[in-house]
Amino acid sequence: MARQAARRIQAYYNNMTKRNILITSALPYANGSIHIGHLLEHIQTDIWARFQRARGHNCISVCADDTHGTPVMLRAQKLGKTPEEFIAESKAEHEQDLVNCLVEYDNYHSTHSPESKELTQAIYLKLKENGYISSKTINQLYDPEKEMFLPDRFVKGTCPKCDSEDQYGDNCDNCGATYDPTELKNPKSAVSGATPIMKESEHFFFDLKNFEQFLRKWLSEDNHVQSEVQNKMNEWLDDLRQWDISRDAPYFGWEIPGEKGKYFYVWLDAPIGYMASFKNLCDRTDGLNFDDFWAKDSSAEVYHNIGKDIIYFHTLFWPSVLEGSGYRTPTAVWAHGFLTVNGQKMSKSKGTFIKAGTYLKHLNPEYLRYYFAAKLSSKIDDFDLNLEDFAQRVNSDLVGKLVNIASRCSGFITKQFDSKLSSQVIEPELLQEFTDASEAIAKLYETREFGKAMKMIMALADKANAYIAEKEPWKLAKNDDTKQLAHDVCSLGINMFKVLVTYLAPVLPSLAEKVREFLQLETMNWNSAQAILVNYEINKFKPMMQRIDMKDIETMIEESKEDLQAEADKAPQAELEDPIKDEIQFGDFDKIDLRIAKIAKAEHVEGADKLLKLQLDLGNGVTKQVFAGIKAAYSPEDLQGKLTVMVANLAPRKMKFGMSEGMVLAAGPGGSELWILNPDEGAKPGMRVK
Ligand code: MSP
Ligand code: ZN
Repeated sequence: MARQAARRIQAYYNNMTKRNILITSALPYANGSIHIGHLLEHIQTDIWARFQRARGHNCISVCADDTHGTPVMLRAQKLGKTPEEFIAESKAEHEQDLVNCLVEYDNYHSTHSPESKELTQAIYLKLKENGYISSKTINQLYDPEKEMFLPDRFVKGTCPKCDSEDQYGDNCDNCGATYDPTELKNPKSAVSGATPIMKESEHFFFDLKNFEQFLRKWLSEDNHVQSEVQNKMNEWLDDLRQWDISRDAPYFGWEIPGEKGKYFYVWLDAPIGYMASFKNLCDRTDGLNFDDFWAKDSSAEVYHNIGKDIIYFHTLFWPSVLEGSGYRTPTAVWAHGFLTVNGQKMSKSKGTFIKAGTYLKHLNPEYLRYYFAAKLSSKIDDFDLNLEDFAQRVNSDLVGKLVNIASRCSGFITKQFDSKLSSQVIEPELLQEFTDASEAIAKLYETREFGKAMKMIMALADKANAYIAEKEPWKLAKNDDTKQLAHDVCSLGINMFKVLVTYLAPVLPSLAEKVREFLQLETMNWNSAQAILVNYEINKFKPMMQRIDMKDIETMIEESKEDLQAEADKAPQAELEDPIKDEIQFGDFDKIDLRIAKIAKAEHVEGADKLLKLQLDLGNGVTKQVFAGIKAAYSPEDLQGKLTVMVANLAPRKMKFGMSEGMVLAAGPGGSELWILNPDEGAKPGMRVK
């Protein structure tokens, strides 16, 4: 409420008219945690929305969890939960992660909500009434044990093209072929392992062909999509098909009105989730009206910020669904590229699949926000998070350049000048250069050229530092004759700092808040850059940002490897019922040296949630240190003196807490049900296990 009031007050900015804007980020699947790849998108959206708000516009940002579909249903089953319980837990985690990353949505909702159900069913009925829905019977693979139809990803078998085994039902990892799951050789259900059978079922289709003319026009006009996307679209437009929008029970989703046992495919209700989240916000906010933003004749702006992998859904299906059901279409769909870490796809085994929660345990979210901003553009190129460059760039720009201005200038003002800035601006042209950059920087934010905006701001920071370095106020302050000059120089420094932080506030909201307090400003919006502080009392400077220590990054990477282990322990992948791994030859097996080991010592590891540190005695004076993820199942004192089976010749692996020189064998579903002990009385340490 307070924010809304503040926005209204800001709304008179200059002579610009106040815009009504809705921006969304793609809805994260409820099926997994938020990771740094997702954060690229949320932070990009958040920076843009905060910028618009700072400019005084009515910019609403919404998101939600994408909750429906087979993976969520199976994952919940596996965890012994209802889908509703499972998605509620995910949502709480997602929301917390986003808030902690300073991503501030006006509403974070769910596609499993009354608004979603109502809107999805109404839109479907409208499409049907307008003649865009048809039905036909199709043949599909069916798991006779689990009694469900199998989505492509839930069928595995031998590639029909290259005979490579264990391939998914839609494409082959080995030769890249794409095919229909019914073409797989020796298909198996990834849910139960059963051999699927062919079964008929009636499906409902949304006929995209009807929208070819509309789409050709929409995609070519008014920057609705980026130029790179436009080129790609032409290929797709030549091949528009009927889109299968129904799935058979059991399915976690919304039932199709009038069609018992048939559910909407998750990708139909997912984008409607944008509307649902917005509607939920409207229903509890005075003066915010759903139709003002979504009616056919709406003059509000609607933007969808998405990753490049889901362009198809957002630029073909979604505009057609909206057009076909009588709603307005998006002002633009903005796609960004994929995040890589150190030049490679995020990898669980390398520890670069970093969850938001893991990042936040070790690093300040503003580091990441700044680094993303510094490298983002309006293009859809992939984005590399190089961890060394990240630390170096943040330390040099934010700590070394930006905050340094204030820390160099504020001390004298507090100690020698009663915390008061001087009564004049000593170099007005220099300060004017800073304030005059306002519109150029605003234009870069507006056009999502954040990297260029950061570059301009940092060039000004360089100027400020060069000026201070040249004047050397610390020397001037020592001498009574030049003391006043020192006061003027430092006061100008603080003014330049204020302008820079105002420009950076959409990226660094928490730093901006600290500066607002430091400078005793009532608000900080885009216009605050223009106000010059003279004869003005400021607060005592407090440190505002620490340097990044590479060690924290390394710890985060190690912990991400541990996360992976924890996840594997916790629950097998939703789609796989612990399938047996690829066949190995006897020679492969023979390489594994299994030995009986005595647990000589077992202890807790400080800071590790899952691990115990074991000293394993293999007899003949041979001992090995192993970190084992069995803390949930055993207390150290229960283990000491007992026997276990270990892989004795596993190459040592450096883990976060030290070297691990082997692996103890355990059986069971994980958590507290994990058995490692060999009860055989005849066993002796060092004995080979046959
Ligand atoms: N649930 C769908 C979106 C429905 S929108 C109506 C989905 N979910 S997702 O969780 O897989 O992805 C959410 C967003 O995060 C997508 O825009 C996706 O492109 C983006 N990203 C997922 N991994 C990413 C990277 N590694 N890098 C950048 N963006 C990434 O798709
Ligand atoms: Zn193949």
